[in-house]
Amino acid sequence: MCSAQSAENVHSCQNTPAPDVSCSGSDKALPTRIQDKFAQLASKCRKCELHKTRTQVVWGSGSDAARIVFIGEAPGRTEDEGGQPFIGAAGKVLDELLAAADLKRDDIYITNVVKCRPPKNRNPMPAEIDVCSKYLKTQIPAIGPSVIVTLGTFATRYVLQRKDSMAALQGRLYQSKDYLILPLYHPAATIYDRTKREPFLAAAPLLKKLLAEESADDSAEGTASNHLSNHSPSQENT
Ligand code: URA
Repeated sequence: MCSAQSAENVHSCQNTPAPDVSCSGSDKALPTRIQDKFAQLASKCRKCELHKTRTQVVWGSGSDAARIVFIGEAPGRTEDEGGQPFIGAAGKVLDELLAAADLKRDDIYITNVVKCRPPKNRNPMPAEIDVCSKYLKTQIPAIGPSVIVTLGTFATRYVLQRKDSMAALQGRLYQSKDYLILPLYHPAATIYDRTKREPFLAAAPLLKKLLAEESADDSAEGTASNHLSNHSPSQENT
């Protein structure tokens, strides 16, 4: 079983490519400009029925130059009212993970697959995901992270394009063309089912390690792009 304690086991998702969210250059002002433009467009979005019931669009929060992006499902009531992702009960659990990984919200970026609250917190519908994920496809390459953490089924299925259960994917690391992808249980799921709390929080050391490896690579000239070359998909299930 792949352990969330180790970055040694990296699974290739080459047969199930993540959506086209390739990285876009080194102009550090670019992410903010692109994000501002699309956040503004999204704020007036009426492409699905959710615009009728939302208070506001919840675009995302954090650093536009984050090395790690967390992607959730859709805003809940607190987020719909407050305009920021993960500021309710689920956000408190996410904050526990961040604290355990020595990360602050300003160090990372948090967003959702669907940017408007589904009424009564129902699951987002396929058509809503389809139309709204176009914003995510702009947002992620504008930030250009190394690591994407998908929170729960909807974000994980969208990013990994796999239908496996969260129990099978939770804490396993996947390498796509541009990103390392780490699927985790949705923080809200760890509130309803306490047995999920421990594996969710157990991802903290792995997150720390990934970011530490990345910083080391950034400072070692010429090695930044191939730091995972020792990791083979054949190590799966070791
Ligand atoms: N759940 C999510 O998936 N996203 C949020 O922003 C809040 C709760």
